[in-house]
Amino acid sequence: MDFPSELIFFLRKAERVSVLTGAGASQESGLRTFRDAQSGLWAQYRPEDLASPEAFARDPKLVWDWYAFRREAVKAVRPNPGHYALVEMEKKIPEFTLITQNVDGLHLLAGSRNVLELHGNILRVRCSECGTFTETWGSDLESVPRCETCNGLLRPDVVWFGESLPRAELESAVIASRKSQVFFSIGTSGVVQPAAALAHAAHNNGSVVVEINAEPTPLTPKVDFAFHGRSGEILPELVKAVWE
Ligand code: APR
Repeated sequence: MDFPSELIFFLRKAERVSVLTGAGASQESGLRTFRDAQSGLWAQYRPEDLASPEAFARDPKLVWDWYAFRREAVKAVRPNPGHYALVEMEKKIPEFTLITQNVDGLHLLAGSRNVLELHGNILRVRCSECGTFTETWGSDLESVPRCETCNGLLRPDVVWFGESLPRAELESAVIASRKSQVFFSIGTSGVVQPAAALAHAAHNNGSVVVEINAEPTPLTPKVDFAFHGRSGEILPELVKAVWE
């Protein structure tokens, strides 16, 4: 792919780059998205009916089991070349922030360091009452495991519908987007906030905005550069064009 020379020039000079990723960035790892994951046993449920505090209050075991199923799917996949290209980009840019809406932890597994997980991480588990994190728990065959500290029910450390995003991560994401010189929106439809807001915050503060997505999105008309295709192919090519 040919990249415009202005973009190559901006990236070579850039000291502050922020990247926002969404489900599309994990697609080439073979992870089904939230919605596509509803096959087999789970096809009868809508994600909205499983990923909410109300759903957990109504039937905690059902919600726990859905996340246990998805956690195993996440553990079975590996980062793809797009994740690794972002690890390389971070090495070249003095202030690099990777903001992700994905809960699969694949950026961290690939080796990215400055990662803000806006929607949490499905591999982490915490108490729904006291918030204590735990890495081990007893059998979950009969019922949802409980917290060793307060006996509250354990839950995945993800942001459910109707819950607020983690405040510190969100604030850092807004600051990083505002002060970026180049902002990337990668594999996200940009329809769920704050994705669109972060791209606009970057644009309004003079950042060059670049979209890499399989298809055009509502953000496309507003970006400086748009590349439509697979992020696992475009990102490695871009990193090579700029820094090799
Ligand atoms: N490379 C680049 N883009 C891709 C690829 C790929 N290989 N595969 C799919 N895409 C694009 C799709 O075309 C789509 O525009 O990624 C985008 C994914 O959009 P969504 O499925 O809406 O995911 P996302 O933007 O991350 O959604 C945000 O909404 O469902 C909730 O909490 C969930 O974090 C998620 C949030």
